[in-house]
Amino acid sequence: MYKLTILLILVLFASIYSSQQCDELTCAGEGQECTTDYYSVSGLYLNDLNSNGDFKIKACGSGMVCSNQVCIKVVGEGEPCSNQICNGTTPCLFYGNGCQQGLVCYQKEAGTPATCQYLQYLTIGQECESTLQCLYTLECNQDSGVCEFNPKPRVLADDVQCYSTLQCAGGQYCNADGQCVDAGGAGAACTDSAQCQLNTGCLEGVCTDILSLGVGQVCENDYNIPLCNIANGLYCSDTGKCEQLPPVVQGNCSDSVNHACDVGQQCICSNAQTNEGQCTPITATNVGECVTAYKAFFNCMLENKSPSPYAMINMAAKPSPAMINCGEFYCSAVSSCQVQSVSNQCNTDVFAGTICETSSASSIQIISFISLIILLLSL
Ligand SMILES: *[C@@H]1O[C@H](CO)[C@@H](O)[C@H](O)[C@H]1NC(C)=O
Ligand SMILES: *[C@@H]1O[C@H](CO)[C@@H](O)[C@H](O)[C@H]1NC(C)=O
Repeated sequence: MYKLTILLILVLFASIYSSQQCDELTCAGEGQECTTDYYSVSGLYLNDLNSNGDFKIKACGSGMVCSNQVCIKVVGEGEPCSNQICNGTTPCLFYGNGCQQGLVCYQKEAGTPATCQYLQYLTIGQECESTLQCLYTLECNQDSGVCEFNPKPRVLADDVQCYSTLQCAGGQYCNADGQCVDAGGAGAACTDSAQCQLNTGCLEGVCTDILSLGVGQVCENDYNIPLCNIANGLYCSDTGKCEQLPPVVQGNCSDSVNHACDVGQQCICSNAQTNEGQCTPITATNVGECVTAYKAFFNCMLENKSPSPYAMINMAAKPSPAMINCGEFYCSAVSSCQVQSVSNQCNTDVFAGTICETSSASSIQIISFISLIILLLSL
């Protein structure tokens, strides 16, 4: 889930500055060297490119992720995996393990085969059969049949319920008195975004609706929760205020002295041989649709008292209550909020290898819509 949050937030608000040369894209197949994939945060591969002076983007195709610089095909539940192996005694890594989104590469003990499994996706009070299903640090109590904070550390006094929000049910946070209390809605007072409901963030002491602020309003907050209304072309700038995304810089951007690209643009080679580049805007696939889908997803999570995605919970696990209740909204948020940058051209089926893969007919329409855009862009 951490991955999704980072993805959605950074993708929408990425302040991507120009490189000094143009970026050249090639698509990589299974087993081939890569620098990025469709599902990665674009900022990450730009950092990599800047640090090693390599401006060749190698993006994996559909159904693959870039793991240890090699494209690997992701596999489904029960299938063998070999990366980021986790035995459940630590918080597992939910990404880069060669499994579909939400699956963990689980190995019970050394010498046994590792397979993709759903782990660590239930929060306190949710029905479980095994501790492996519960969020790390929680235990499946076989008598009550729910994930519990157990055993209670001896340092906690009897009247203390929690020392971290991870130990509270979804929709609640752990306050300074060690009590789990309900998070506040828009307008409630706060000192930390954990005290605000899921579809809001703490801004200057007040829980504030996501994606709602206008130009010039302060937007900087503790968890980088997206508060500016991106549908109006705004982003949270380095000044800490919502600003209008600048127009696309014209001219050869490889010549960075005169034509460096502005925020939210990437210098893409139009002719790699002559090192000629053009600034290309990086946005969500469809910003209006993205705003609607993102809000709908967080509202659904709120209604279902889902735990915060900022907790280390494997929210994208298919059997997690968040996906059972709000999976449809999650999938449409992922598809419409996906960054539209040049490396997407290698992935023509954005849902391949994701938990959204087998979604309904409306998803199929979204896929063909995206493929159309990608086709148009690649002409
Ligand atoms: C589980 O993995 C951790 C490190 O990842 C290791 O220290 C521990 O011994 C493993 N436990 C079992 C039962 O294999
Ligand atoms: C674009 O700028 C780069 C860097 O200054 C330069 O090497 C290249 O020749 C320019 N291309 C064109 C077509 O002007």
